[in-house]
This record gives sequence, structure tokens and C-alpha cells, in this order.
Amino acid sequence: MHHISKPKKKKASAIANSNIALIKYWGKRDDELHLPYNNSISVTLSGLFTHTTVDFNKEYSQDVLILNGKRIKPDNDKYKYIAKFLNSLRKSFPQKLSGLKIKIVSKNNFPTGAGLASSASGFAALTAACNEALGLGLDKRQLSILARRGSGSAARSIFGGFVEWHKGSNQDGSDSYASQIADKNYWPEFKIIICTTNTKEKEIKSRAGMRTTIKTCPFYSGWLKTIKHDIEIARQAITEKDFSSLGQIAETNCLKLHALMITTYPPIIYWNESTISLIRSILNWRKEGLECYFTIDAGPQVKILCRNSDTATIIKKLKDMTFIKNIKLSQPGSGVKISNFHLF
Ligand code: DP6
Repeated sequence: MHHISKPKKKKASAIANSNIALIKYWGKRDDELHLPYNNSISVTLSGLFTHTTVDFNKEYSQDVLILNGKRIKPDNDKYKYIAKFLNSLRKSFPQKLSGLKIKIVSKNNFPTGAGLASSASGFAALTAACNEALGLGLDKRQLSILARRGSGSAARSIFGGFVEWHKGSNQDGSDSYASQIADKNYWPEFKIIICTTNTKEKEIKSRAGMRTTIKTCPFYSGWLKTIKHDIEIARQAITEKDFSSLGQIAETNCLKLHALMITTYPPIIYWNESTISLIRSILNWRKEGLECYFTIDAGPQVKILCRNSDTATIIKKLKDMTFIKNIKLSQPGSGVKISNFHLF
């Protein structure tokens, strides 16, 4: 008896959490490969995730992307980012991808492109799904390197808990990947409250912003000089579970990043009035003895770093601030995972 075996389906799904940088990445020594000038440290965020299903097939006439239920056209930036990622995937694995087009269906459970690192969770999930669907057999380090080709911060979302992205020095990016400092269960006391002040997509993408900063900001070299110190303090604070030290260095590093952005020309000002109100409130709460810190990425959203025992008090105060659109309690979350649930 002969069995006619059907060709194996090249379909898979993955779920990845977003992450928030405690020591920020800003500026690339290589724009093509997304190689950063500095190391960065992040915490992977539970509850903010991208779920992605991919299917590789000879039948598709072109690469198709459906994001949050909407078909994304090839002239859209998001499509272009993905096309760039797929190019590098096809170059790295020409045989595995020969003649195949991809359909990608992806969903975020939080606002896209608004400074909540949807590109980090998005490309981490896409990378893991492609690895599974094509049977590439990549380990986490290789996944991190590949995810980086989609978006720098995605290199970190492969891992859970506290993560460091090593900038590396090789020209081909082979030593620019993330690794885990501590897993998601390591520090249950450490919480993050995410305050969304505006869900609109930002006008200046990180990618473009970084480029202008390097070209025009007179303080960029000063930033780079302080990073080694910031990274060491943050790493040590995580190792010692020293909340005050980690909060202080994260907040200072965040303000340094935004100082760079503001002094770029044309200026990049991601904050809105609500962002500033929140910053002021957090500084006041601290004066009153409620110890918490803020950090902000390329957008107007404020992430509050706090102790578990203070979350209820802080959330109660935040609820009175009616200008905040959404309040979400998060904690160190898990790294990227394969899912058996397909979106199509
Ligand atoms: C301010 O990783 O989104 O959030 O590599 O160009 O895709 P690309 O940029 P992206 O930039 C993140 C910038 C940041 C800081 C950080 O996450 O470290």
C-alpha cells in the first residue's frame, strides 16, 4: 500500500510579550542590521502581548499581512518593516523559503505603535512563529538575533523576566543579541503600572528619531559615555533586588533619553500634558514617602515602577486622574512561546 503523504503544513503561531526598557536603546551603528551603539536592559511585560500566526505556501501570490483585523498594504510602513525582515529571513535560509510566500495574521492586545513596544512583541512573535513553521531549529540566542533584524527591541522580547541586549562589536551582528538576567519569578515584589495617556500612533517612529538624534543632537556622545555606568548599576540592582537603586537609575536614564530627543533637530517631543502631570505626581508621591519611579519610551505613556505592597495605593490615586485613558498592572512576564491556537 502506498500512502500519498500530503506536504507538511508550514503553519505555526507564537505569542510574545512586549517589554519596557529600564536602560534605553537609542541609536544604531548599523541601520540595516539594527546594531545599537549601546547595551540596554529591559523587563518583559506580562499581559501586553502579540499573537501571530504565519503560513508559508506556494499558493499565495504575494506576502500578506493582516494586523489587528486589517489588511496592511505594501506602501504602509508596517508592511515595509516586515518586508525588510522577510528579506533577511529569505537571505539567511534560501532553501527553506524557496518559492514560498507568507501570510501573517497578527493581533496586539494593546495599542499599536504608541510607545508600548508593539514592534518588540510583534517581531519576537513573528520570529518564533517562522522558526516553528519552517523547522529552522534556532535556539533562543539565534531567535534574538533574527528578531533584532525586525526591530531592535524585539531582540529582548524573546526572553522573559529581566533582559540585557548586548550591543556586540562584530560587523555582521552575530554578537548582538539579548540574554536573560533573571527570570519572571525572580522578583515577585517588582511591579509595573502602565498608564496610557493617548492611544494614537506616534508621528515619529523610533527608527527615524534615532537617526536624527545621531545627526543633530549635541549631547549624544555624552549619553553614550554614561551608559556603561547605568547598565552596571541596573544589573547590580536586579541581582540584589534593590528596588530604590533600580528605580532611580531607570528614571534618570529615561530622562536622559528624553533630553536627547528634545534637543534633536527637529525636536522629538513624545510627551503630552498628561505625561507631565503624571511625572509631577510621581515626584510628589515620592516626597511624601510613596516610593515609585517612572519610565517612558518613544511615546506619551508612563510606566510606573513600584513595589507590590504599594500597587493598590498607587492605582487608587491614578483612578482619580481622569485624563489617564487606561491603567494596567503588569509584572515581569514570560519569553516568547509557541501557541497551538491559530488565528486563521
Ligand atoms: C525608546 O526597537 O522600536 O523604546 O530598532 O528601529 O525598530 P527599531 O526601534 P525600536 O526602538 C525602541 C526605542 C525605545 C527604547 C528601548 O526600547 O530600548
